[in-house]
Amino acid sequence: MNSMHAPASQQDLSLDEFWMPFTANRQFKDRPRLLESAEGMYYTDVEGRQVIDGTSGLWCCNAGHGRKEIAEAVSKQIAKMDFAPTFQMGHPLPFQLAERLVEIAPEGLNRVFFTNSGSESVDTALKIALAYHRARGEGTRTRLIGRELGYHGVGFGGISVGGMVNNRKAFGVQLPGVDHLPHTLDLERNAFTRGLPKHGVEYADHLERLVNLHGAENIAAVIVEPMSGSAGVILPPQGYLKRLREITEKHGILLIFDEVITGFGRVGSPFASQRWEVTPDIMTTAKGLTNGAIPMGAVFASDQIQDAFMHGPDGIIELFHGYTYSGHPVAAAAALATLDIYARDGLLTRIRDLEIYWQEGLHSLQGLPNVIDIRNTGMVGAVHLASRDGAPGKRGYDVFEGCFWNGLMVRNSGDIIAMAPPLIVEKSHIDQIINTLGDVIRRTP
Ligand SMILES: Cc1ncc(COP(=O)(O)O)c(C=O)c1O
Repeated sequence: MNSMHAPASQQDLSLDEFWMPFTANRQFKDRPRLLESAEGMYYTDVEGRQVIDGTSGLWCCNAGHGRKEIAEAVSKQIAKMDFAPTFQMGHPLPFQLAERLVEIAPEGLNRVFFTNSGSESVDTALKIALAYHRARGEGTRTRLIGRELGYHGVGFGGISVGGMVNNRKAFGVQLPGVDHLPHTLDLERNAFTRGLPKHGVEYADHLERLVNLHGAENIAAVIVEPMSGSAGVILPPQGYLKRLREITEKHGILLIFDEVITGFGRVGSPFASQRWEVTPDIMTTAKGLTNGAIPMGAVFASDQIQDAFMHGPDGIIELFHGYTYSGHPVAAAAALATLDIYARDGLLTRIRDLEIYWQEGLHSLQGLPNVIDIRNTGMVGAVHLASRDGAPGKRGYDVFEGCFWNGLMVRNSGDIIAMAPPLIVEKSHIDQIINTLGDVIRRTP
C-alpha cells in the first residue's frame, strides 16, 4: 500500500494494484487526485473539495454530471433486462437508438454500428472501409491514411493511423500500408487566432501527393478528427476539411471523420461535420453518446456503404465484425436518456450563444508568462505554453496539477492545456475557469 502522502480519508486505500491508464502511476500515487462525487459542473474530491470540471470528465460528460434521468434509465433497464445478445438475436433498444441517432446525424449517414468505445469505433470504421472496397470489387484499396498528431484511440488500427508518437513508439508493430498527412498546427502563421485559423488549407493537398505516390486504386480511406482534441486542440484551417472532401471524392477514397470528441454538441452543432459543412462517408463517435455514464460508441455510415455488403444469399453474415456488447441494452438506455436531455435542453447547439464569451475569456490570457498560443472553437479551448528547456511537458503538467489543487480540472497534453467544459456551462463558470487558470499560469515558473 502506497499511502505515504495520502490524506486521512485515503489511509485505507491501497493504490498499488490498479495499473492506471495514460497516467504517470508513480507520480500520481505519490499525491493522488481522487474524485468521489459529481453534480452539474462540479466534482467533489475525497477530501470534500469542489473542483470545477473544465474537461467534461474526459471530453464526455457534455450534459454535466449527476443526470438523474440517465441514472433512472440505466437502473430501470438493468432490472428489466440486463443483457441480450445482438448476434443473430436482437432487442428493441439499439434499433430505437439508431433511429434517434440518424435524426441528428449529418445528412445521409443513416446506418449505425454500435461499439463500446472510441477505439473500437475507429477499428470498426477502418474495417468497414476496407471490407466495403472489397465488397465492390476494389480489393486493392487497402492503404489507410491518418494524420500527424491525430488521436484515434489505442487499438492497433487506431495507433497505426494515429500520429502521436508516444502512443506508437513503444509497441513496434503497426498496421502495414499506412501514411500520414501533415498536421495543421502552424504557430508561426496562426498563433492566437480566434476560431478556425486562416492559414493552412494547403496541408490537405498533401493527399494528392500520396495519391500520386501510391495510386488512388490502392487507397481505402483517410481518417481525421475534424478537430484534433487529444493532441492539444489543433483546429482545421479554413477550407481544409472541404479540400480533403474534394480530393477524397475525386479519387474514390472514403473520408472518415473521427468525431469521438467533436460529436454531441461540442462545437455548436450535433456533429462538427454539420458546423463545418463537410459530410464524411463514415463517422465515429463515443463519449458524449451516453454522457460518459456507460461505455458506448457508434459508427455511422451511409446506406450506400451498407448496401455494398448486402449481396449473396440471404443467410450469409455480411460483416464478420461485432462486439459482445454492441448495442448493449443498458448502454442503449443510457444513450436514449442522454439524447432526450440533449434535445430537451437544446444542448447540441447551446454553446453558440456562449462561444464568443468563452473565446474572449480564453484570449484574455494572451500575454501571460510562457503563453505562446491560444486556440478555441465551440466549447473547446487550449492554452499552449512554451516548453521548459530540456523538460518538454513539465510546465504543462505543473499547470494542470496547480489547477487541480486550486479547484479546476483541465487536461495537459505536453505543454498544452486543453479544456472542454460541459455544455451546460454558464458565464460565471467560464469566469471561474479562466481566472483559476490565469492565476496558476502566472504562478508557474
Ligand atoms: C478522436 C478520438 N478517437 C478515439 C478516441 C478513443 O476513445 P476511447 O478512449 O473511448 O477508446 C478518442 C479518445 O479521446 C478520441 O479523442
